[in-house]
Amino acid sequence: MNNLSLSDTDRVLILGATGFIGRRLVKALVEKNIRLRLLVRTPAKASAIVPKSSDVEIVQGDLQDTGRLRKALAGIHSVFYLVHSMGGSSILKNTEFAKKDKRIARSFIQAADEEKVQRVIYLGGLGEKGQGLSEHLVSRAEVADILSSGKTAATILRAAVIIGAGGASYEMLRYLVERLPVMTCPKWINTRIQPIAVHDVIQYLTGCLTNVDTAGKTFDIGGPEVLTYKIMMQQYATARGLVKRIIIDLPFITPSLSAYWVDLVTPIPSGVAHPLIEGLKNEVICLDSSIDNYIPIKKTTFQEAVKQAFSEETTGPGVTGF
Ligand SMILES: NC(=O)c1ccc[n+]([C@@H]2O[C@H](COP(=O)([O-])OP(=O)(O)OC[C@H]3O[C@@H](n4cnc5c(N)ncnc54)[C@H](OP(=O)(O)O)[C@@H]3O)[C@@H](O)[C@H]2O)c1
Repeated sequence: MNNLSLSDTDRVLILGATGFIGRRLVKALVEKNIRLRLLVRTPAKASAIVPKSSDVEIVQGDLQDTGRLRKALAGIHSVFYLVHSMGGSSILKNTEFAKKDKRIARSFIQAADEEKVQRVIYLGGLGEKGQGLSEHLVSRAEVADILSSGKTAATILRAAVIIGAGGASYEMLRYLVERLPVMTCPKWINTRIQPIAVHDVIQYLTGCLTNVDTAGKTFDIGGPEVLTYKIMMQQYATARGLVKRIIIDLPFITPSLSAYWVDLVTPIPSGVAHPLIEGLKNEVICLDSSIDNYIPIKKTTFQEAVKQAFSEETTGPGVTGF
């Protein structure tokens, strides 16, 4: 029988708890006294983010190991699904992450159904299916479809670039603008995007858990402004008090060439950076605002989000692994 409401004794599993979003979510849910379990590959990383004397269980395991996954799912009410398989530093095109993410999502939803998990809440990507959608964004949509195909009620949140210290896309932007007063950029510089502050994302994720009416629904989430990458870079410089950046459009530069340029200027591993750069050609803006009916929040502007991210760079959860 479905029981979507979370009781005081129920436990919530976070997958991806050691990531950019996951570690902030752990903190937010612990503050709400929600009992947690984290499935992590490296327990030492998790111990560092779990506040002392909180009710948080840590299970060591890789999501590809179905035995460990079943152990982690036993007795769980709801799951936050915050994982992807991009990574590594090969400069060759990484074509494996999408296959791996599909495989992991399928075995997850099968196990969640068998363990009678009530809800799964997934944070994926904005971007519309069709010709020209990047492999990364196609993969995020495939995972959403797989997670929605089970008996467990799925809530899908779709976001563009998330602004916060330690986020891969945000860090790419930060390094480029901080290091280069003059930039030559390809066509993607004029693509429209609706970035969102990480603090707002965390409010939506926690809000979905406590509002059962969000179960079984898909929501687009974004900040209050639709910008272009060019405006985003200029606004970043303004928020940081840097001299105005000179950005020269060179439409003939290919995305692959700009990916190698990002490898030179930023420390972001190419296994993450290249799939993200391929997606810069895709418009990522909210087509639906129904989340406002369920979780009304005051949305953070882009410049305010940059200021918050910068203040976290050396102290808060935003200490980056890059
Ligand atoms: N960052 C953004 O700007 C952004 C924008 C839109 C949507 N999203 C979505 O938000 C979600 C979270 O992204 P993020 O930025 O937080 O990613 P992230 O920082 O790269 O974290 C990914 C997490 O997944 C874990 N993980 C990966 N493969 C695993 C496996 N096989 N078994 C167990 N754990 C595994 C990692 O664990 P380790 O610590 O062991 O590596 C890490 O905790 C993703 O679905 C992403 O598509 C992010």
